[in-house]
Amino acid sequence: MSHRILVIPGDGIGAEVMPHVLRVLDALGVALAYELADLGGVAIDNHGTPLPPSTLAAARESAAVLLGAVGGPKWDALSMDQRPEKGLLGMRAGLEAFANLRPAMLFEPLADASSLRPELVAGLDILIVRELTGGIYFGEPRGVDNEAGRRRGYNTYVYNEDEIARIARVAFDLAGKRNGRLTSVDKANVLEVTQLWRDVVNEVHAEYPDVDLDHLYVDNAAMQLVREPKQFDVLVTGNMFGDILSDVAAMLTGSLGMLPSASLNAHGQGLYEPVHGSAPDIAGRNIANPLATILSAAMMLRYSLGEREAADRVETAVDSVLAEGFRTADIMPATGTDSTRLVGTAEMADAVIAALEVPA
Ligand code: IPM
Ligand code: MG
Repeated sequence: MSHRILVIPGDGIGAEVMPHVLRVLDALGVALAYELADLGGVAIDNHGTPLPPSTLAAARESAAVLLGAVGGPKWDALSMDQRPEKGLLGMRAGLEAFANLRPAMLFEPLADASSLRPELVAGLDILIVRELTGGIYFGEPRGVDNEAGRRRGYNTYVYNEDEIARIARVAFDLAGKRNGRLTSVDKANVLEVTQLWRDVVNEVHAEYPDVDLDHLYVDNAAMQLVREPKQFDVLVTGNMFGDILSDVAAMLTGSLGMLPSASLNAHGQGLYEPVHGSAPDIAGRNIANPLATILSAAMMLRYSLGEREAADRVETAVDSVLAEGFRTADIMPATGTDSTRLVGTAEMADAVIAALEVPA
């Protein structure tokens, strides 16, 4: 039986990269049945809404959703409710994909691409577990209104204890399978909602005596991430802090163009997308790095499809193309060495496919 996958190329480099990622998946020989759907800007153009009901319905019927990226200047002037990003947020919420896993791993050959000194990042392997369907992104009330002739904008940062406990369990589980260390990030010195976050994470800790837990305020966590990133193993945090810290963590590894993510619901269904956005400024020029989406597809094979061996093969192939010196522009060192060669999107995917064909 083949796995049913919903493929959502989206906008910008998302749409550009996806056909190459499907070529990589096809080369694996895993039985996959793809269905294609629109989300984001392209959905606004084709269906008048960033999240067509048919797209969400198809996602719910699939074992996994593989997503490129959404957004672009063409749709920037639309109201908040009509923007491409709303489609992405609606998809995450509609699938109840509350657990967003964002690994930040440094691929050894890219140590020079980091903005930090190589010794600070060599061997870096952090996992950020970001709550994805709650917090200030979704809290009500929200809006901009008029108060005595003056505009006033507001959002609500809210979590209930069940939402906190379920993301904490995911994080403790993952930490238990890694190095047994979990750092929870909050702003409990100022925000009541995150005082509750800290309390609930402490309560859930009782179920995981083998995991060491500590807590950091988000400002300190941001600082520690750039000061000494290797002190961290698994970080768990709310939606907005996770958004910010995952970009910081991504940059430690040299490029946003390398990082995959998985967003899982309670049934193991998942939405898999690169951490990077649609990068409209470089779209359509065959220069985007396809590796983050290729690695997202590997996470999909591992977490939602149970195809661990195929996932390993993809990750190993990515390792070996980097070791062979293939570089897209975003990970090309300023002074290339003899072994590095600049390639485009299609050629990078070709190299991964060629590496898959080499028997291990
Ligand atoms: C991300 C992105 C999204 C987010 C945007 C595009 C809505 O920044 O996936 O990190 O804020 O979650
Ligand atoms: Mg982000």
